[in-house]
Amino acid sequence: MPFKPTDRPRRLRTDGVRPLVRETTLDAQDLIAPVFVDATIDERLPIETMPGHERVPVDEAADRVEEIRETGVEAVIVFGVPDSKDEVGSQAYAEDGVVQRGIREISANTDAYIIGDVCLCEYTDHGHCGVLEPHAEDDPTLTVKNDETLDLLAQTAVSQAEAGADMVAPSSMTDGMVGAIRTALDEAGFEHIPIMSYAAKYESSFYGPFRDAADGAPAFGDRRHYQMDPANSREALREVQQDVKEGADVLMIKPALPYLDIVSDVRREFDQPVAAYNVSGEYAMLHAAADKGWLDLEATAYESLLSIKRAGADLILTYFAEDLAEKL
Ligand code: PBG
Ligand code: ZN
Repeated sequence: MPFKPTDRPRRLRTDGVRPLVRETTLDAQDLIAPVFVDATIDERLPIETMPGHERVPVDEAADRVEEIRETGVEAVIVFGVPDSKDEVGSQAYAEDGVVQRGIREISANTDAYIIGDVCLCEYTDHGHCGVLEPHAEDDPTLTVKNDETLDLLAQTAVSQAEAGADMVAPSSMTDGMVGAIRTALDEAGFEHIPIMSYAAKYESSFYGPFRDAADGAPAFGDRRHYQMDPANSREALREVQQDVKEGADVLMIKPALPYLDIVSDVRREFDQPVAAYNVSGEYAMLHAAADKGWLDLEATAYESLLSIKRAGADLILTYFAEDLAEKL
């Protein structure tokens, strides 16, 4: 007798029934599109390492966001390229800083949901995510001064809320950043503004293209003293727990694809919405392979985002947002 299988999962894979038994769906409303506003340009500037993306001047920020909204994506996260940098990243929290001006434009002229990325690295001349110990450039054991950085992050978040941000997203991996920002927002009358914390952000090599896009590469050293070691997963749960205690509303894991186990763990352990950041390197590698004719861009992008949702993310920050939303 030839073997006759009794379980036949293929029954549920015919065209008619497949959509009925799908466990995961992808919707334009789950996506957040990154936008880069640049104070140093008066025309749009393509970002070479991220095909299809560009830096826009402040007065085109709203147009850029309208283009995104036309695809069905309603939420954007705003990054800035300032016209000057200094030791303490003053342009990150200046009232007329590039992100503050960009957010004002977007909020005055569109109905987009605006998220401000809160960090100092695009605004410090040394490119680190906080203020440095003296002589850190000569001594690799020295690093960002944690507690001195907190107040600057809090000021950055408040200035973005004042400009019209609907949500703030601290990305510096400073201990206590969520608590410091929550306290400052509340004191300034922004109790209603939620915080999406980059709660488990790894010291990843997949950020390369972004650092070109936002001009935020560290001038020396790396970020291993504040971003997480890619080898650790239990530590991610402690990091996330800390942010929950301090008042984080949405918990983000970054990057996404190489860290889907973390997305899944955080989904299981916590009740808050979970976000994942499908970072610049994850975008650039699919584009590069597609350019060579080695991968189908649209299909691999779709599969990537679907996998991130399947792992447990409710929302996804991704450079594919516009292109995919148009096809959903
Ligand atoms: C800034 C910030 C970074 C990204 C988002 N916010 C860069 C970094 O930490 O080096 C990365 C985004 C990406 O690679 O797409 N703190
Ligand atoms: Zn940073």
